[in-house]
Amino acid sequence: MKIITSIKEMQKELDQQRMAGKRIGLVPTMGFLHEGHLSLVREIKKHCNYIVMSIYVNPTQFSPNEDFSDYPRDFDRDVNLAEQEGCDVIFNPDSEEVYPKNYLTYVEVENITKIMCGASRPIHFRGVTTIVTKLFNIAKPHVAVFGQKDAQQAIVIKRMAADLNFDVEIIVAPIVREQDSLAMSSRNIYLTPNQREQALVLSQSLKAAERKISAGEKNAAVIIKMIKNKIEEKHDAKIDYIEIVDQEKLECQTEIKNNVLIALAVKFGKVRLIDNIIVKI
Ligand code: PAJ
Repeated sequence: MKIITSIKEMQKELDQQRMAGKRIGLVPTMGFLHEGHLSLVREIKKHCNYIVMSIYVNPTQFSPNEDFSDYPRDFDRDVNLAEQEGCDVIFNPDSEEVYPKNYLTYVEVENITKIMCGASRPIHFRGVTTIVTKLFNIAKPHVAVFGQKDAQQAIVIKRMAADLNFDVEIIVAPIVREQDSLAMSSRNIYLTPNQREQALVLSQSLKAAERKISAGEKNAAVIIKMIKNKIEEKHDAKIDYIEIVDQEKLECQTEIKNNVLIALAVKFGKVRLIDNIIVKI
């Protein structure tokens, strides 16, 4: 497996692979890999035969008060895991390479980036869409994969790819969970054992909501209230949002008539966790 840090070199390598007839798959990550990330590699392998994983903690998607500098990093471990999973190349640029001096250009998707995670993280999605655009331009992948764990991110990227005519197929892979159902996240290591235990309420309340909807409750406000009550029983939990929306425009639903995305963000101490479920009607 190759490790490439220069954009020019990455473009050259992938030009050669494309000329050799390879179908290129891109797995964008910020590293500190876990099973969730590795499941994306397994998923994209079904669609292509040359896999690029990017590992880059992108500063423009973090606000100054967020955890950019504390974001967990372990590059050597990541390299081993990516290699074992069958990646062909890791792209690991530094920030001078990605955002050189005098950098001025950003990509912004409107409306759907201003709500949910975008409401409390105002510059977050602008950073995500900018780096993903750059990765698309650098790798020119045939396929790129994103996780359902970051449901809003996947929807925003699909919107951007369609709106800007990126010639790339976007795949969304299911959420990978710990055995006790906590959604895997690089940030989980920052939970204290007690917060880790309390955080189970997220997946449990989403599952309970699904059961209640299946049992006939179609009033979104009632479902949201039920989730809220369950989460608020936990001492350290601070709810950021709980929303029931459609899966394209992320519009709030009052009555649950079609498939919906129930998404939430909750802070346990300093650790902000997200989770979601798609409820099929
Ligand atoms: P990161 O948080 O490292 O996640 C990289 C990819 O892994 C994302 O597509 C995310 O949705 C997916 N992922 C994370 N946890 C998962 C889980 N438990 N199950 C399934 N997939 C999971 O998301 C980012 O990085 C960045 O915003 C990025 C897209 C790389 C742009 O910087």
